[in-house]
Amino acid sequence: MVIRGQQPADPADSGSATVSYYKEIRPIFQEHCQGCHQPAKRGGGYVMTRFDLLLQGGESGEPAIVPGKPEESYLVRQITPENGKAEMPQGGQPLPEPLRAKIIAWIAQGAVDDSPPATANRYDMEHPPEYPAPPVITALDFSPDGTQLAISGYHEVVIRSSDGQQLLARLVGLSERIESIAYSPDGQRLAVTGGSPGRLGELQIWQVAEKQLLLSKIIDYDTLYGVSWSPDGSLVAFGCPDHTARAVMAETGEQVFYNGAHNDWVLDTVFSVKGDHLITVSRDMSMKLIHVPTQRFIDNITSITPGALKGGLDAVDRHPTEEQVVTGGADGTPRIYRIFREKARQIGDDFNLIRAFEPMPGRVFDVAFNRDGKLFVAGSSDDMTGEVRVYQVDDGKIVIRHQFDSGVYAVAFHPSGQWIAAGGFDGVVRLIKVPEGEVVSEFLPVPLSVATGNAATELTAYGTCGS
Ligand code: HEC
Repeated sequence: MVIRGQQPADPADSGSATVSYYKEIRPIFQEHCQGCHQPAKRGGGYVMTRFDLLLQGGESGEPAIVPGKPEESYLVRQITPENGKAEMPQGGQPLPEPLRAKIIAWIAQGAVDDSPPATANRYDMEHPPEYPAPPVITALDFSPDGTQLAISGYHEVVIRSSDGQQLLARLVGLSERIESIAYSPDGQRLAVTGGSPGRLGELQIWQVAEKQLLLSKIIDYDTLYGVSWSPDGSLVAFGCPDHTARAVMAETGEQVFYNGAHNDWVLDTVFSVKGDHLITVSRDMSMKLIHVPTQRFIDNITSITPGALKGGLDAVDRHPTEEQVVTGGADGTPRIYRIFREKARQIGDDFNLIRAFEPMPGRVFDVAFNRDGKLFVAGSSDDMTGEVRVYQVDDGKIVIRHQFDSGVYAVAFHPSGQWIAAGGFDGVVRLIKVPEGEVVSEFLPVPLSVATGNAATELTAYGTCGS
């Protein structure tokens, strides 16, 4: 096949500038290709996230990249359009000409890997991460039927039976850091956001029973936060460090919602009961209401009076049946708000506030209602200590108060309402009985490996991730 528009490779001619794989080519592959070509989802048997396999190619047996020879590289043929259509990216628009030219120039220059050693992707389902120390827990969710507990790990989400006793699955993906986890309303799928700081933001959707990665959508170059499902399971929303909240179709990954009303990182999202509005919280200290079909900003749910808000908001959860949300953040005070304003805003009011609860020590990192909405759990972290509390919604009474020697970053209410799970800095999951408040079980989500020379290196790499 003749590759039109491409001159015979002449290294002297391929531009004086050397093309960097790490800085220029890898981001193109990451954005346009790796969602379908990674260890957990090998389109055509082709994995593009490991450099040796990137060169090697997939099922066709043809070398994808022949260093120095773009005209012999199968990948180049696959991305070159004919009559306006290219084989790859599959089902998408052909890569723009300047990107293709860059890839061709890089191959012509010898397809050199200039990645820093620490950024290599080492893990897949057959080679799950090994842990010399427990991974920090940043996200937890019980399945809606109450049988499973999903727990964040490093490069993976760990699925255990909801009493913690059995390890059911390890869903190993591209993202080093997992920031949020949410089961779909029918419990079949798991949405996960995370990434690698400064390099990758990713949304994953897994079919849990099959341990199959249905979708990996790579968005920008920093971790994604606060994933949530629409009540009908059709949309998945999340927050981005570029100050936007977005939603995609869960089936296809097609982006259907994009709103930039916040002016700092968006850390959590939740849909209204009817599913027609999205509620978002941000480091910019505000909670916003956005109309899903039109993607338009409707209202600030929290007061916007300067000085009324102290510090950013980290977490939001919606009442199971009413249009109310609980939120928490830097000031340690959990608050319940009504989502929709019942009268016009007066300057300086905080009209939607229903109740502010007794502040927790430090910063509230996570909140969750129980199934009937009469209680909620909140987890906080203050330097090296943490607290879990269960509050009564109606009168603010503290039903459970538990202090730990380690910050709490994630909490979840079991659907039965009979226990909660909490996790955080020390990597231990604790199950606490409601309303008694006793810790009935403590476990590590993953087995620890014996520390070896190698493991020590991994610990360093992990240490930067957990900080
Ligand atoms: C939506 C999923 C998807 C995306 C995005 C995608 N691919 Fe593919 N790719 C596939 C599938 C599936 C195959 C298997 C062959 C087929 O079905 O056509 C494949 C096959 C290939 C092959 C042949 C592997 C072999 O040796 O058989 C190459 C090379 C390739 N893709 C490169 C790319 C590149 C480069 C990009 C990004 C510019 C990309 N793909 C984006 C799904 C995808």
